[in-house]
Amino acid sequence: MQQKRSNFSSKLGFVLAASGSAVGLGNIWRFPYLAAKYGGGTFLLIYLILAVTFGFSLMIAEIAIGRKTGLSAIGAFKMLDKRFGFLGILASAVPIVIFPYYSVIGGWVVKYFTVFISGGAGASAADDYFSTFISGTFEPLGWFFIFLAVTALIVLCGVEKGIEKVSKIMMPILVVLTLVISVYGLTREGAMEGLVYYIKPHMSDVSAKTILAAMGQLFYSMSLAMGIMVTYGSYMKKDNHLESSVRQIELFDTGIAFLAGLMIIPAVFAFSGGDESALSAGPGLMFITLPKVFASMKLGGAIGTIFFLLVFFAALTSAISLMETIVSIFRDKFNWSRKGACIFVAVLALIMGAPSSLGFGPLSFISWMGMSVLDIMDFVSNSVLMPIVAFFTCIFVGFFIKTKSISDEVRVTDGKFKAEKLFTVMIKWVAPIFLLLILLSSVGGALGIDFLQALSV
Ligand code: PHE
Repeated sequence: MQQKRSNFSSKLGFVLAASGSAVGLGNIWRFPYLAAKYGGGTFLLIYLILAVTFGFSLMIAEIAIGRKTGLSAIGAFKMLDKRFGFLGILASAVPIVIFPYYSVIGGWVVKYFTVFISGGAGASAADDYFSTFISGTFEPLGWFFIFLAVTALIVLCGVEKGIEKVSKIMMPILVVLTLVISVYGLTREGAMEGLVYYIKPHMSDVSAKTILAAMGQLFYSMSLAMGIMVTYGSYMKKDNHLESSVRQIELFDTGIAFLAGLMIIPAVFAFSGGDESALSAGPGLMFITLPKVFASMKLGGAIGTIFFLLVFFAALTSAISLMETIVSIFRDKFNWSRKGACIFVAVLALIMGAPSSLGFGPLSFISWMGMSVLDIMDFVSNSVLMPIVAFFTCIFVGFFIKTKSISDEVRVTDGKFKAEKLFTVMIKWVAPIFLLLILLSSVGGALGIDFLQALSV
C-alpha cells in the first residue's frame, strides 16, 4: 500500500525549508564573485530582473508539478505524460550526482568551523593550509562523513519534525549572522571602496555573457532543474498560496546572495588594498582568501567562527534538500520505509563522494580537461544536466501538459494567479531559448569554444 505523504505543517515552514535549499554555497561563494566580475550594479539589476521573471516561472512550474501529482520527479513527470518519464529520471540524476560532492565541501566547512572556534584562525591563514588539508586522505574523508551523518540524521526525522524544524531554527539565525558580519565588514577601514566596486554599475563589463552568467547562477541558486522543488512541492498543502510562497523564496535567496556580497567583497577589498584579483570563485575564496582576511582583522577569530557557522547552516539545509529528494525518489519507486531509504542513500553518497574527497590527494592523478573528480561532478551536473532538464521542463509544460494545467494548480488556493501571463510567455518562449544558450556556452566553454562569439551575440 502507498504510504501517506508527509506535509510541511505551515506555509512558513514550506517557505523556510525551500529557502534553506536555495540559500547555499552558491549564494556565498559564487554570487559575490560573479557580481563583481560581471558589471557590479548592472549585474545585480539584471539578476534581480531575471529572478522575478525566469526564476519565478521555473520555480512555479516545478512546485506546481510536485503539488499536483503528490510525487517526486520520477513519478510526477511520468504521471502527467508517459512520454516524459525520461525527464523525471534525468532530473533525479542531478541530486544523486550533486549530493555526494556537496557533502565533501560541507565537510570542509565543518573542519574550518572547528578550527576557528578552537582558536586556530591564525594557523588557517598560512599559504598552504588548505592545500595540505584537502590533499590528505583520512582527514577530509572524516569531515565528509560527519557532515553526511548530520544531514542523514535530520532527514531521518522526517519532513515536519526534521526538515521543517531545523529550517525554522537555522534560517533566521543565518540571516542575523549574515547581517552581523556585513555590518562589521562594512565598517572596516578601506571597505567603502569595495562597496562601491560591488554596487556601482560598470557597463563596460556587461555583455551577452553577463546575462547568461546571471541566468546560470540563478537556476543553480534557486535549486531548480533537479527535482528538489518538485519534491518539496509534493509536501505542500493546497491551502498554502503557491505564487506568494515563490515570491518569498525568491526574496530570501536573492537577499542573502546580495548580503553575502556585502559581507565578502568590501572585506576582501580592504584586505588586499583594492586588488580585484583577490576575489576568486570557489574554494579559493572561502578557504584561502577569507581566512587570511579574518586573521588580519580585529576580532577576526570570532568573526571567522560566525562566518563558518553560517556557511555550515547554508550548506546543511541545502544538503538536506538534496538528500530528501533522493530519499523521496527511492521511497516513491520502491515503497521503502524512510529509515531504509535514508541508510541506503547515506551509504550510496559515501561511496560516490569518496573519490571527490580523495581527488585532491591519493586520487589526484584522475583529471579530465584539467578538472579534479569534484570539478567533473560539478561540471556534469550544473553545466550539462541542469540546463537540459530545465529546457525540457519548459517544453513539457509549455507544449505538452500546457501552461494552463500549472496555472490551475497555482489558482487552487484562492482563484488568483497574478503573474500568469508572464509565466506563460517565460516558460514557452523566453526560458527555453536562454537555456539552450546556457548549455551551448557552458559546454563550449569547457571545450574551449566560444559559441557566443561564433554566434556573434
Ligand atoms: N541552491 C544551492 C546554492 O545556492 C545549491 C544547491 C544546489 C543546493 C543543489 C541544493 C541542491 O548553493
